[in-house]
Amino acid sequence: MALNAALLRETFERAKSENGGATSLGMAFYERLFEKYPAVKPLFKTPPEEQHKKLMTSVAAIVGVVEDPERLVPYLHAMGIRHLAYKTVPEHYAAVGENLVSVLGTHLSKEGEWTDEMKETWQAALEVVSNIMIEAGNDPDKFKEEMKDKGYEPNGFKKDDPRPWVLA
Ligand code: HEM
Repeated sequence: MALNAALLRETFERAKSENGGATSLGMAFYERLFEKYPAVKPLFKTPPEEQHKKLMTSVAAIVGVVEDPERLVPYLHAMGIRHLAYKTVPEHYAAVGENLVSVLGTHLSKEGEWTDEMKETWQAALEVVSNIMIEAGNDPDKFKEEMKDKGYEPNGFKKDDPRPWVLA
């Protein structure tokens, strides 16, 4: 499906500059996630102060290459496979997606507008992202060759790169 890349980028750029920027958005993400979905809290070993930077970097990367499936899809496959190591299950994705759209809406409503179109665009994007990650997590063996070709280990991590969420 065609995603509205321009609107995703425009809203994420706003998120980075409005209402305390990516730090406040990222911290709000974990605060609400743990409050609304307490069952996922024990999965997170890295404190939100660090974790939110990784999430924001990866959302920025995704939004940046959303029109370039050759870069986006292997990146998401690797990320979906890595999430197996974090004990993520497919059912968690709807919660994380709902949470991100909700905090983004609250964040952007503080200084500007958050329209239905923006909300639907982010929901659609998160559904696509989640499905690609889940597909890889469901059958990592199927993506062994792709992982190798793109410089990832079969488990989705990178041998000499401690920050696999950064899209080179
Ligand atoms: C929109 C989909 C998602 C994105 C973009 C995303 C992004 C990230 C990133 C960038 C990391 C850093 C480590 C790495 O890249 O391997 C990470 C780690 C993690 N994610 Fe996700 N994630 C998503 C979905 C989920 C879901 C559905 C869960 C389930 C609760 C989850 C739980 C975790 C956990 C537990 C970690 C490890 C935290 C730690 O180091 O303690 N993520 N995620």
